[in-house]
Amino acid sequence: MARILVTSALPYINGVKHLGNLVGSMLPSDAYARFMRQRGHEVMFICATDEHGTPAELAATKAGKSPAEYCADMYEVQKRLGEGFGLSFDHFGRSSSKHNHRLTQHFAGALAREGLIEEVTETQVFSHADGRFLPDRYIEGTCPNCGYERARGDQCENCTKQLDPTDLINPRSAISGSTDLEPRETKHLYLKQSAMRDRLRSWIESKTDWPILSTSIAKKWLDDGDGLQDRGITRDLDWGIPVKKGEEDWPGMEGKVFYVWFDAPIEYLGATAEWAEANGLEDAAWERWWRTDKGADDVRYVQIMGKDNVPFHTLSFPSTILGSNEPWKLVDYIKSFNWLNYEGGKFSTSQGRGIFMDQALDILPGDYWRWWLLSNAPETSDSDFTWESFQNGINKDLADVLGNFVSRVTKFCRSKFGEEVPAGGESGAMEAELEAELDKRMAAYAAAMEGIEIRKAAQELRGAWVAGNEYLQKAAPWAAFKTDPQAAAAQIRVAINLIRLYAILSRPFIPAASETMLASLNLDPDQPWPGSAREALTALPAGHAFSVPENLFAKIDDDQREAFAARFAGKG
Ligand code: MF3
Ligand code: ZN
Repeated sequence: MARILVTSALPYINGVKHLGNLVGSMLPSDAYARFMRQRGHEVMFICATDEHGTPAELAATKAGKSPAEYCADMYEVQKRLGEGFGLSFDHFGRSSSKHNHRLTQHFAGALAREGLIEEVTETQVFSHADGRFLPDRYIEGTCPNCGYERARGDQCENCTKQLDPTDLINPRSAISGSTDLEPRETKHLYLKQSAMRDRLRSWIESKTDWPILSTSIAKKWLDDGDGLQDRGITRDLDWGIPVKKGEEDWPGMEGKVFYVWFDAPIEYLGATAEWAEANGLEDAAWERWWRTDKGADDVRYVQIMGKDNVPFHTLSFPSTILGSNEPWKLVDYIKSFNWLNYEGGKFSTSQGRGIFMDQALDILPGDYWRWWLLSNAPETSDSDFTWESFQNGINKDLADVLGNFVSRVTKFCRSKFGEEVPAGGESGAMEAELEAELDKRMAAYAAAMEGIEIRKAAQELRGAWVAGNEYLQKAAPWAAFKTDPQAAAAQIRVAINLIRLYAILSRPFIPAASETMLASLNLDPDQPWPGSAREALTALPAGHAFSVPENLFAKIDDDQREAFAARFAGKG
């Protein structure tokens, strides 16, 4: 048994997330965490809302609320939606928590002590029309690296380059659109990331098992002359974590806060501390996940995120951790995802284009979305949500293959043998063939899940469902029953055990359906992972009572599909 720490990139607080956000981090982390728990590992699965910075301030202003009020409300909304999708976080925290304040100020103090913080008087963009400095997302313009015209002051979302607001060409205010901007002097703290280059490089080069998408982005910015510039870690904003050196004030930094990308990843630790407090545990309980001097040495730490987050997790956050010169846990494996598109274009919050988490749950259960999103996760390239593909995935995989199997088997058994696993008959060649196929599928499935290859795992899972259908088709117990009821009984016994096996294997993907299947077999959701197909197919003995479950999945018909497509086409 191992100890596995899993963190999902923290969703920004600024509104309900769309399905692209969900599939880029929270959903695959959940599938992985669930699988690892089922395999008997000790798992700590952490997420939180990312509450600081310009996105939060801008959204609060728009909602006519104070940032604190807005964040408190949106936190509840996001937490509830996460539950609706079955996200099994051990803790869903808030980057504005007191733990994150303390830890962020602690890291800043440690970095200062190590000589890695520089106080710089610099020029920032001041907007006359808005009467304030314009950090990060308050400013937009053309990316100096790739020419993308709507780059933000903190990062170009087209080429992933991290930027400073003064880097932008033709800058304009994101609040007013004004170009009446003036450079003005203000004092800020800089993290000397450049001093970390060699340590970062040898660390990243040691990660030979990482997926290409993660290492290629990391190396690109490591090798790029100014990809590892010293970065400003403070801002002229009201909402955020006040700049302090540990518990001490920082002269000259009064009224300033830390940059959101400095404090957000520290919230991975902060949320684990929140978890300990919420459960009435001592600090040692969370520190054993994070301090290598307090037990975290044997933790495997996995981070999951969208590709735009990779530079922050391979360069910036490791600079904080390594630079502190304290025994904090560094990430062991970074899994990153490409983009999910919507009907050939981008998801767009401003244009209401695509599907958002609340809308998705309004129209269909969480498992439907989980299945399609995970089995089509944008792993090796971007992927495209289309209503046709969604309809197909739900109708074919879930309704025709899995749902139909469960309903046929349980109904047939009820009508011929009653609502319990039938006795009599023996397994033969057909069952041996099925077992061999399932053993192969289960091994490939487990290997894919271990490696967080989500699409591949989904394919193997589907393959296991198909194998059961083929078996049933071939064995044809409804025909056998007329001539050899004992043979039919043996086949149905296998088939009911298959339902249990499918519930176990499917849990990382469709946890609610898995629970329904097990409940209909009068079984607890926590079933042990089967050692072999033989073991799984003989787990429930003759006489074990069950009941026929409600239809597991409803099909999406063409009229429904067209109505959904029209409803989500967006305004623009
Ligand atoms: N909120 C960021 C995003 O959605 C992700 C932050 S991940 C963190 O892109 F760990 F740094 F918080
Ligand atoms: Zn760019």
